[in-house]
Amino acid sequence: MKASHVAFLAASIAPALAAQDPAQFVNAFIGTLNGGHVFSGATLPWGSIKPGADSNSSDNQAGYVSDGSSITGISQLHDDGTGGGASLGNFPFLPLTTAQCANNNLSACTTDHIGRALAHGDPSASPGFFSIPLNNGVTAEVTVTEHVALHRFTYPNGTDQMLFLLDATTDLSGSWKGTGAVDLSSNPLTGGTRVTGSGEFGPSFGEGSYTVFFCFDSPTIPVQAQFYSSQGRNTISPNSTFQQNIGSNNPAGFLFGFAPQQNATLTVRMGISWTSTEKACKYAEDEIPQISSSSFDTVKAAARAKWNDVLGTVEIDATGVSEDEQVLFWSSLYRTYISPTNITGDNPLWVSTEPFYDSFYCIWDSFRVVHPLYAITAPNTQAEVVRALIDIYRHTGFLPDCRMSLDKGFTQGGSNADSLLSDSFVKGITAGIDWQTGFDAMFNDATAEGDFSVEGRGGIEARDMLGYVPFNDTLDNPPNEGPNTRRRAWAKRPNATHFFNVSGDWFNLWNPAANNSGFSGFIQPRNANGSWYFDPRWDVGDVFRPDHCSPVFGHTDCFLNPTGGEFYEASSWEYSFYAPQDMAKLVTAMGGSATFSSRLDEFFAAGFHDIGDEPGFLPTYLYNYVGQPVKTVDRVEATLNMFFNTSLNGLPGNDDSGAMGAYAVWSHLGFFPVAGQDTYLLSRPFFPRITIRNAATGAVAKITASNLSAQNIYIQSAKLNGKNYTKNWISHELFSKGGTLELVMGSNKNSVWGTKQADLPPSLSTGGFK
Ligand SMILES: *[C@@H]1O[C@H](CO)[C@@H](O)[C@H](O)[C@H]1NC(C)=O
Ligand SMILES: *[C@@H]1O[C@H](CO)[C@@H](O)[C@H](O)[C@H]1NC(C)=O
Ligand SMILES: *[C@@H]1O[C@H](CO)[C@@H](O)[C@H](O)[C@H]1NC(C)=O
Ligand SMILES: *[C@@H]1O[C@H](CO)[C@@H](O)[C@H](O)[C@H]1NC(C)=O
Ligand SMILES: *[C@@H]1O[C@H](CO)[C@@H](O)[C@H](O)[C@H]1NC(C)=O
Ligand SMILES: *[C@@H]1O[C@H](CO)[C@@H](O)[C@H](O)[C@H]1NC(C)=O
Ligand SMILES: *[C@@H]1O[C@H](CO)[C@@H](O)[C@H](O)[C@H]1NC(C)=O
Ligand SMILES: *[C@@H]1O[C@H](CO)[C@@H](O)[C@H](O)[C@H]1NC(C)=O
Ligand SMILES: *[C@@H]1O[C@H](CO)[C@@H](O)[C@H](O)[C@H]1NC(C)=O
Ligand SMILES: *[C@@H]1O[C@H](CO)[C@@H](O)[C@H](O)[C@H]1NC(C)=O
Ligand SMILES: *[C@@H]1O[C@H](CO)[C@@H](O)[C@H](O)[C@H]1NC(C)=O
Ligand SMILES: *[C@@H]1O[C@H](CO)[C@@H](O)[C@H](O)[C@H]1NC(C)=O
Repeated sequence: MKASHVAFLAASIAPALAAQDPAQFVNAFIGTLNGGHVFSGATLPWGSIKPGADSNSSDNQAGYVSDGSSITGISQLHDDGTGGGASLGNFPFLPLTTAQCANNNLSACTTDHIGRALAHGDPSASPGFFSIPLNNGVTAEVTVTEHVALHRFTYPNGTDQMLFLLDATTDLSGSWKGTGAVDLSSNPLTGGTRVTGSGEFGPSFGEGSYTVFFCFDSPTIPVQAQFYSSQGRNTISPNSTFQQNIGSNNPAGFLFGFAPQQNATLTVRMGISWTSTEKACKYAEDEIPQISSSSFDTVKAAARAKWNDVLGTVEIDATGVSEDEQVLFWSSLYRTYISPTNITGDNPLWVSTEPFYDSFYCIWDSFRVVHPLYAITAPNTQAEVVRALIDIYRHTGFLPDCRMSLDKGFTQGGSNADSLLSDSFVKGITAGIDWQTGFDAMFNDATAEGDFSVEGRGGIEARDMLGYVPFNDTLDNPPNEGPNTRRRAWAKRPNATHFFNVSGDWFNLWNPAANNSGFSGFIQPRNANGSWYFDPRWDVGDVFRPDHCSPVFGHTDCFLNPTGGEFYEASSWEYSFYAPQDMAKLVTAMGGSATFSSRLDEFFAAGFHDIGDEPGFLPTYLYNYVGQPVKTVDRVEATLNMFFNTSLNGLPGNDDSGAMGAYAVWSHLGFFPVAGQDTYLLSRPFFPRITIRNAATGAVAKITASNLSAQNIYIQSAKLNGKNYTKNWISHELFSKGGTLELVMGSNKNSVWGTKQADLPPSLSTGGFK
């Protein structure tokens, strides 16, 4: 299937309406092919329930894949853009016809999730809505509120019984843990049948298990019903009660036959809760009181309106901007708001009045671009996210890096929630946040080691002693022997002076002699005795390979696996550009501005750069640190042109909970956050006028780009709040207090704007961050 076959409404609506209805520009199918793993189903911003189709495809991490593979069901929960295993996909539905169940004989229907899969036509989607025509003639549609899905199935004309399957045990990864139950009875409120149930499943990139609960309502009593399990089939007389523990009898579920009405349209409601079936039912009744084809249209319209509210904190003047560019922008922004999920009030793990968010998948991916974006476009949500993370620390003892489906997820390196918190703190996000406890949480990450495969960070003692975490750090391994005999308590509680000092530790892993492609000085692993470590597998003859893990050498060696390289999901070439707290020192270490600049050129030209993974984002903006903002503009432009587009395979890697989307958003806005800092590096906007409304403070930031055209993409001069402005970066004040940044664009690449020493972004060693 091609992108052009996917239905969405952009073409038909006049540009003038864009401000009121940015949802029209959202193409939910971008990145549903080629490993983007984008969730294309229905959700509200940060919504708890995320129903959508599930494809019989090895790439079905988010359910639906645009590879033409058949549909095993329309399930209720998904994650967006993740790597790891296929996530969630619980409690799928599938509409069936006599093509699957001859003579409407329920015993004849295939229930196995692969065996029952149906081919399909082109799906369509818009914010809060997903629809797919199945080749048995039934069109499945779904729309949502926060915790509840309304599904509408339109059967072929002439259908004499609307057959329907509810699978209570099969999720996308087959992770059923052997505990669950279902309970069927009539529901006096709807006059129909209610099925409640729960199941215990395994997380897709974490440890432990989770239990999730559902409440299904049909508006009428079926004319026939059957419970199936691996033990066989039980015919249930309609309008009776039926209870069953499922245990290891999975797969298990129900088959129903409903009398056709409303032109053979079956509308059913599904509430989901992480706490109880009672809560799932209460959500269902409160959020969608009426189960009908017309209430479906009402819920769908409300979902779109909610999306327009959330998307609408950003307004763009699209004069002279192609529709395709607008689709890329709004679809990217849309995806940044899918995860994490707001399940405040539905937390089964502990009692708290704080907000609760799940599906941080993972903060390693999202701290760089997604949460800094919230800081300007959705600061109230960001405040809730920060509170939720601090509450996770309160109740689990650590900030997470990854969490999904209530479980601890695998840390991808570092304690990235620290950067997320710092970012919000320096940006003055305060609403309801207990920053003292936030500080305690970060202090804990820096000084106490937990099980760093799922929380905190590793190598703390070794780093305190050596100034770096050595290769094969034996200090982490009990019992207390070998280097562990040097174990000691912190002599004094570390303070700001200490933390300022250790922010320079990266330089202890800087090997000035390591060289590659004509450049010297690289981050290299080091042994505990101070000697440089060479991996014998590829550092042949003790020549270190800084390109290992890059797209050109051993790219797939370096994921979260024990035999991987010393660098995680990026090469030493890429990590060696990452000292955002002190880029001035890094520039000097690399041999000065000119060498730094040509080294960046080589990094991109030689293919060492990997934009498909998050460490690759910031390097595209680093020319600003040597006073060459024009080269940043060219590099960002090239990156967008090569790797981001509106097609089904329009992403360079997993969307990673909207991280790829956020990169595209920032790059269109024309400035990029240095995560954890109050620094935004300027490139160039793609729109002549951008307005960002701060929902927390009411402040309005305006960015204008006069003379902007296809050729006039370089900033020639700038004014901030009416005064000449030559720095090639801005601070958060524009967004917290409001103001106007006026840029004058031109084609001249030799403008002096942003090129002087005084124009460079802040670095610790040159007195920045005061
Ligand atoms: C229904 O299907 C089952 C399984 O194929 C079969 O054994 C049974 O005879 C069928 N019943 C009728 C009434 O056709
Ligand atoms: C599902 O996928 C498997 C593995 O790719 C394939 O063998 C099977 O034919 C598919 N089933 C359907 C119904 O498409
Ligand atoms: C189904 O039947 C209704 C009424 O009989 C008619 O209005 C509608 O167009 C038909 N739909 C299709 C898809 O044929
Ligand atoms: C279903 O059963 C309930 C309670 O037993 C009864 O009140 C209701 O009238 C029945 N509905 C139908 C359609 O039989
Ligand atoms: C059936 O479909 C027709 C044509 O789409 C429509 O006019 C009619 O209202 C529908 N009937 C019901 C009960 O939904
Ligand atoms: C999160 O959910 C809670 C409870 O439903 C709600 O009060 C809050 O407004 C939500 N937050 C956002 C940002 O939507
Ligand atoms: C790591 O250190 C331990 C203990 O000193 C040693 O037994 C092991 O061989 C080392 N592993 C590697 C890969 O060097
Ligand atoms: C931090 O502690 C050291 C002594 O351990 C002291 O010399 C220094 O002044 C303290 N710095 C701050 C900012 O308190
Ligand atoms: C940290 O302290 C050590 C030892 O005093 C010193 O060598 C190093 O330069 C300091 N680093 C920074 C960034 O101040
Ligand atoms: C630097 O490169 C040369 C070959 O170009 C190599 O012989 C030498 O070992 C390299 N130095 C290091 C420290 O890797
Ligand atoms: C340092 O440690 C490494 C790894 O254990 C070892 O191969 C090397 O011989 C040691 N060097 C010295 C000088 O002890
Ligand atoms: C501001 O910049 C413009 C050129 O962009 C220059 O003509 C003017 O003199 C500057 N004003 C001040 C106060 O520096």
